[in-house]
Amino acid sequence: MIPFNRANFDGRELEYLQQAISGGHVSGNGPFTRQVEEELERRLGGNSRVLLTTSCTHALEMAAVLLDLSPGDEVIVPSYTFVTTAGAFVLHGATPVFVDVDEATLNIDPAAVEAAITERTRAVVAVHYGGVSAAMDQLVPLCEAHGLTLIEDNAHGLFGTFAGRPLGTFGALATQSFHETKNITCGEGGALVVNNPDLVSRAEILREKGTDRSRFLRGQVDKYTWVDLGSSWVLSDLLAGVLLGQLERFESIQTRRHVIWDRYASELQDWATQRGVRLPHVPDDRGHTAHVFFLRLQDIDVRDRFITHLRDRDILAVFHYQPLHQSEMGVKCGRQAGGCPVSEDAADTLVRLPLYASLTPAEQARVIDAVLSFD
Ligand SMILES: Cc1ncc(COP(=O)(O)O)c(C=O)c1O
Repeated sequence: MIPFNRANFDGRELEYLQQAISGGHVSGNGPFTRQVEEELERRLGGNSRVLLTTSCTHALEMAAVLLDLSPGDEVIVPSYTFVTTAGAFVLHGATPVFVDVDEATLNIDPAAVEAAITERTRAVVAVHYGGVSAAMDQLVPLCEAHGLTLIEDNAHGLFGTFAGRPLGTFGALATQSFHETKNITCGEGGALVVNNPDLVSRAEILREKGTDRSRFLRGQVDKYTWVDLGSSWVLSDLLAGVLLGQLERFESIQTRRHVIWDRYASELQDWATQRGVRLPHVPDDRGHTAHVFFLRLQDIDVRDRFITHLRDRDILAVFHYQPLHQSEMGVKCGRQAGGCPVSEDAADTLVRLPLYASLTPAEQARVIDAVLSFD
């Protein structure tokens, strides 16, 4: 069976894990955590503070707490995304307002955001779907003009770019995921990227259970105490060690992912054009992360038949994201602003092909042959 995804730990991950164990610091905020955070900060251009967290979802929760929400405050989110893009804000008191994504990139549509803004709007969450940037040239000024906090859910887009600038550096806050399914992983993990310096010290406190332990660890106070809201959102140094091993191999992982992505794009193009199957589109001003390669088939029946066709050939292809505005919880706690026809269509038609660094050329040839033999 060719799986849809396979995490790969071919570097120094085990060695660092062992080092963390023998070094005796296995809880959070240890030497590997700082090393990974500093490396991420350096690669993001040096103006962000990165805090490793237990997941991207928890980083989104931290963003929600940092917004200081009052009941009735609204956060605008794309309907076509993972549940916690919205759920993290709901958990901390916000009303999610679901808007559509644009047909070309499946990212939040700036015109739909603008139409959804009310006097209760506090923030906009932009997901860079598949690691292809949302329209930051429109979203940044729109949020500025309305005094809204822009948050990037950058789970897919680590070191992707918009106009040459790294994703995760446009919003006041951004979140990363290091879940098993992401380009680099430590199993479960994430990060909060804090670009607004005014939010750094509170973010550190939230992550450390509402205490000023980070200041204590830096020797800035001689004891630590409970000072604010917070939870247990620090990543274990064991996992930070694994993540360092992954980060050191980032370039080789990405090179391989891009080769696979480009091969799908070129070898499936004619077949797709002949059948009206849509492939991913990357606008010229964006550097993508080769996180997702998808096909959008004609309708849900064709899509389901396609998945079965591949499964019969021992290949696992998957679809994802039910539109949040139609989900049970979305209907109960959120509000839809405008229609979301693109989100609904993507949910019915999109299928993701296997894409991971260790997918061999022969395995990819099998996937491509299986796709081309589908009628
Ligand atoms: C867009 C998006 N946001 C958030 C998440 C949640 O990430 P995590 O599993 O690290 O909490 C995911 C996970 O797949 C995602 O795709």
